[in-house]
Amino acid sequence: MLADDCENDYYRFGDIYLVGPGVVVISHPEDCKKVLFNHRFVKNKFYRAFALIEDNIYATQSTQLAMLRRRQLRHAFTPGYLKQMESTMLQCGLLLLKKRWDSRLGKQKQIQVQMENEFMHLAVGVIGALGYGQGPTNWNSHTRSQLIQWIHDYNLLSLVRLLVPLADKFPISLLFTHLIQSKCQFALSVDSAAESRLNECQQSKANRKADILQALLEGEDLESGSRMTRQQVVAENIAIIIASTDIVAQTLTWVFHYLLLCPHIYRKAAEEVRNAFSHTHLITFDEAKAQLPYVEACIYEAARIRAATGVFLPRVVPNEGVWIQGHFLPAGTQIGINIAGANHHRETWHDPQIFRPERFINNPQSKAHVLSFSAGVRMCPGKNLALYELLTTTANLLKDYEFSLPNSARFGRGKVDQSGRPVAMPRAHRFTSVGPKYPHRDCQVIVQKAQ
Ligand code: HEM
Repeated sequence: MLADDCENDYYRFGDIYLVGPGVVVISHPEDCKKVLFNHRFVKNKFYRAFALIEDNIYATQSTQLAMLRRRQLRHAFTPGYLKQMESTMLQCGLLLLKKRWDSRLGKQKQIQVQMENEFMHLAVGVIGALGYGQGPTNWNSHTRSQLIQWIHDYNLLSLVRLLVPLADKFPISLLFTHLIQSKCQFALSVDSAAESRLNECQQSKANRKADILQALLEGEDLESGSRMTRQQVVAENIAIIIASTDIVAQTLTWVFHYLLLCPHIYRKAAEEVRNAFSHTHLITFDEAKAQLPYVEACIYEAARIRAATGVFLPRVVPNEGVWIQGHFLPAGTQIGINIAGANHHRETWHDPQIFRPERFINNPQSKAHVLSFSAGVRMCPGKNLALYELLTTTANLLKDYEFSLPNSARFGRGKVDQSGRPVAMPRAHRFTSVGPKYPHRDCQVIVQKAQ
């Protein structure tokens, strides 16, 4: 199912349609929530391909395991723990990116960057630091590129396993030696980070670090007292790293793309930030949340109009079947939750194809209708961490830099569709997320220091 098709198919076929034998796609937000809030609609077997180390929070079809991991990881995503991780996130993400740009801007008045690539390095810097438990000095461009390569290979191997179920069994595995070796190196590196952290903790019980690695090693289910084995820690850490890089990078890319397509919105957001904070101030998440409602609205609007998860989320109908939009779907039917369709649903959103952040101002409850982080029992557990990254990055970059499109840009610069709306760059489905189709062509942006 292609990314563009999901949105277009909603406009063509409406709330429910068949895409193949026994495969139904639904888009009405209430129907989507009915499925997503019920544990009995399990993830379909597609997800098993992502259990390359062992079953994990993302891949599992087991309700028990999904609930257990959420209880064990509960601590990692609480507001208090996120606050403790914020300084690492800023240093290893935003500040490293700014350092790179500033060093180039020291020599030139303006630079050209490929936004998706920049944001991929930012997202990998953040999750790498939190997952490996290392500071900014360990995250140079070489280590970031290595991690990006492992993530890419891991995703590719998952895809291969989906298409060729025996891909990791001899002799078929010989065809994929490179990907299998890459997965092993990835797992070994995560395991050795766990080992070092356990040694550090044994040597000194005080000054425990606050990061994802520590949260996984200490994660305890208060009901049963159970903790994860070392291999489970590695599998979950990798699942979190995979689930939180491309998608953050792509969401940031869509935010900046839409701001550049709509110069009046870009100006309003930049002015909000610059009026609220001095040039030298590093804006934290709490400050942005309290003082930058328009910037936050831009992020929600970009996540709505071009969800980086804009493909459908597959679930299986349980034994009792389900009624949706007057149709009875029997047990075993595959249901695709059309996130792009729900985010464009005409009963929920006025003019859904228009990028209009104002729809979230003075109407905070409308954020809950954006399904880009999914909803219910398997909703994204990292949503708040993602919002930390999205909000602090967008706010600080808008404060410190001026962005514009190069003369060669194919989008923006007055290019509109038949209804007068700016045309956004084409998108493509990449593994589990939706990003620009031609990033090298369409994500080029001119950056200058803000005056
Ligand atoms: C803009 C950023 C993000 C978006 C839009 C997003 C969106 C989503 C969505 C839609 C799902 C459900 C997937 C499905 O059911 O197939 C999901 C699951 C998940 N996300 Fe995120 N996510 C983001 C960032 C993060 C971050 C930063 C983390 C962790 C640090 C994370 C960890 C996870 C995990 C572990 C799952 C699996 C949960 C389960 O199946 O029970 N995500 N995410």
